[in-house]
Amino acid sequence: MSRRASVLFVCLGNICRSPLAEAAFRAEAERRGLDVEVDSAGTGDWHVGEPPDPRARALARAKGLPIDDLRARQLAEEDFYRFTHIFALDEQNLEGIRARAPAGVACRIGLLLDLVPGREGEAVADPYFGEEAGFEVTWADVSAAARAFAERLERE
Ligand code: 4NP
Repeated sequence: MSRRASVLFVCLGNICRSPLAEAAFRAEAERRGLDVEVDSAGTGDWHVGEPPDPRARALARAKGLPIDDLRARQLAEEDFYRFTHIFALDEQNLEGIRARAPAGVACRIGLLLDLVPGREGEAVADPYFGEEAGFEVTWADVSAAARAFAERLERE
């Protein structure tokens, strides 16, 4: 029997993109009745212990999927043993994840938008320094990836 899937979404600060990816995928998995552990982390440590960015929280609340209780944490070595899949929100974070990965770990590490046909190699753009509208783009991207990953898990 294959191991229960567990997925970690990783961005830079763990306050904008990856908490939204976590919320989108958790909702998608619940809708489909998939038994999967879901979490998020950042490669950076600037915001450790903080709730998600107020703009991300407002958007998640508007989608009916509040993330106010999440707290930022940094990617840790144990994550490579705990999760079956680790998805980076962009190439910079993919490199950061790979640089920290202990040799020989079994978890699959990939770029999130590689899951979405036609979006391979693309980044989920960082909305932190931009306008509020950027968060809707983030939401669309992480939702598309969440659907694609849930469909893949259903097939496996
Ligand atoms: P995130 O966004 O990686 O999507 O959480 C950022 C949050 C904070 C910073 C950069 C990106 N920062 O430089 O503090």
